[in-house]
Amino acid sequence: MPHLSASQTYRVRFTANGHPVEGEAEPRMLLSDFLRHVLGMTGTHVGCEHGVCGACTIEIDGAPARACLTLAVQVEGSSLRTVEALAPRPGRLSVLQEAFRRHYALQCGFCTPGILMSLDIFLRATPDPTEMQVREWLSGHLCRCTGYVPIVAAALDAAQKLREALTNDV
Ligand code: FES
Ligand code: FES
Repeated sequence: MPHLSASQTYRVRFTANGHPVEGEAEPRMLLSDFLRHVLGMTGTHVGCEHGVCGACTIEIDGAPARACLTLAVQVEGSSLRTVEALAPRPGRLSVLQEAFRRHYALQCGFCTPGILMSLDIFLRATPDPTEMQVREWLSGHLCRCTGYVPIVAAALDAAQKLREALTNDV
């Protein structure tokens, strides 16, 4: 990355959920703040702001990333997905979101966007996970409310439903 002056703002352009977006950011501005305060994409939550809780997890160029550990200027030209992209259309939830609802996998919901994004990426790469694999993957997320049991159940249920959908499509 070229040297940036801390006292200036810079135009940042990238793709968010399939749409080109842009805005001004100081070099020190966190991507989580840019998403929420500049672009108004408040689905991404901010908890600890130092990479521990996982609430701010989004997808950057196909991989999970902490938006609170990423500077807005770092994603120039990248392709991002956030929790706003999960529902296929208004009024319709994704398979994973439906499973969260069925299993009561959220209470306050603060951790939920980050966990959904993380699991969405995980289930694409690991369509038939064991419970232990799900638990290991979730170890990067802190949930104060649910005790994780319903989250794990929802993830395994969603994996099964996604596999069934794939089989029915063939
Ligand atoms: S807010 Fe980013 S990991 Fe906690
Ligand atoms: S549902 Fe409240 S922190 Fe996870």
